[in-house]
Amino acid sequence: MQNAIKAAADAIRKKHEGAFPKTILVLGSGLGGFGERIETKTTIPYGDIPGFPISTVPGHSGQLLIGEAAGAPIACMQGRLHVYEGHPIQQVALPIRTYRALGAEVLVVTNAAGSLREEMGPGSLMVIDDHINHSGRNPLIGANDEEIGPRFPDMSEVYSGELREKLFAAGKAEGIDLERGVYLYTTGPSFETPAEIRMFAKWGADAVGMSTVPEATAAVHCGMRVAGMSLITNHAAGIAAHKITHDETLAVGAQSFDKMSRLMLRFLPTVSQS
Ligand code: HPA
Repeated sequence: MQNAIKAAADAIRKKHEGAFPKTILVLGSGLGGFGERIETKTTIPYGDIPGFPISTVPGHSGQLLIGEAAGAPIACMQGRLHVYEGHPIQQVALPIRTYRALGAEVLVVTNAAGSLREEMGPGSLMVIDDHINHSGRNPLIGANDEEIGPRFPDMSEVYSGELREKLFAAGKAEGIDLERGVYLYTTGPSFETPAEIRMFAKWGADAVGMSTVPEATAAVHCGMRVAGMSLITNHAAGIAAHKITHDETLAVGAQSFDKMSRLMLRFLPTVSQS
């Protein structure tokens, strides 16, 4: 495991001279355009980093941008890997462990998600308070490397309370209303059935999606602080009056893009301030 991390970290170091940012931002479906708001110094296609699988989903371009957002040093994953593309879930953890080895301390994850709450409609932004892993998979399955993290990591505060408060402060400063709730992770790629959504609602889920939890779990394991944000692109199956399509999620992502960008540009510079 250490060899794979070292090979990936070396490839990044070779392309990017100077300090590696302490904050990593992962852009979800339809949010890849935020990359243009970053003053990018170095662009590295995932194909140039050993072990980084190449994303196959439209709307996910697949490169690592290193630069600054509103003056804050940042490394940004434009395009992420999904388990439904066929990547073993352990491989989704490799980029996170690589950034940690390079000195990263904070992971900010964004995603597109379906809402389980009638009043939380498309275009809403939801700060992730906690998650439910409904995938039956965990990126930490397999031999544990104690140098990376403990065999049985505590998960009682995956999403840092302090960073959640900073997200709300950024929302207030920008005049953007933020929801909060529990994100439920399924592997997809099929959307959920109405019966599943009714069950998830009883379990306490507020939003459902196909990403974020693998990365967040790997980040907690290796000692990073995590913040998560869902852009609600649709009401989930059975709550929505119509069928759900990936095109719809991308379209709402595009419409809400400006709001999300303003929030991130306000939030990111505050991340490393205590
Ligand atoms: N379900 C799962 N993933 C999603 C959804 C959804 O309704 N919308 C956006 N990503």
